[in-house]
Amino acid sequence: PPSLAADLLIRSLERDDHLHGHMQVLNVLSPTPDITPDAYHAIFDDMARRPETYYTIVILSVPTSQILATSTLLLERKHLRSGGLVGHIEDVAVSSLAQGRGLGKLLITTLTGLAEGLGCYKVILDCARDNVGFYEKCGFWEKEVEMVQYF
Ligand code: ACO
Repeated sequence: PPSLAADLLIRSLERDDHLHGHMQVLNVLSPTPDITPDAYHAIFDDMARRPETYYTIVILSVPTSQILATSTLLLERKHLRSGGLVGHIEDVAVSSLAQGRGLGKLLITTLTGLAEGLGCYKVILDCARDNVGFYEKCGFWEKEVEMVQYF
């Protein structure tokens, strides 16, 4: 398994992680308006009802109990490949002060290892052009094109 500094802990997201700065870390992805604890719990509970679909991990600083990094693996069942599973890596976020210390790579290697262990035949993600080099260092390569509609 990837190595982790002694003052860091990697674990699954927990129901009260709004108290440890989970939403603040996600802010590096896009400005995230503050949500109430009830709203945070409702989102957590909705995902927790589908534990075989959502796997969100966080990396915490043990001395401060603050979350420094987070990402989610989402599992998709296909009719193709005899009901094969595809892993989607989403919402990779490392707080700006903790970037460049290998935490992003640790998130990705942990989630790709999890996807493989859960039986996925591939793992995919969408990213900005600026991040292609990062994902290449994590073992991914560029394939096809992302498209979108917003509602
Ligand atoms: N381009 C090229 N190489 C990079 C980049 C980049 N943008 N970022 C990091 N690297 C390299 C590092 O130099 C390092 O190389 P090395 O192994 O040779 O030393 C390697 O990639 C691993 O870098 P980490 O230190 O693990 O990267 P970090 O912890 O800073 O995480 C991340 C990278 C996730 C992109 C972080 O900077 C971040 O959160 N950025 C803002 C939010 C964001 O863009 N998230 C990704 C969205 S895409 C998605 O969610 C699927």
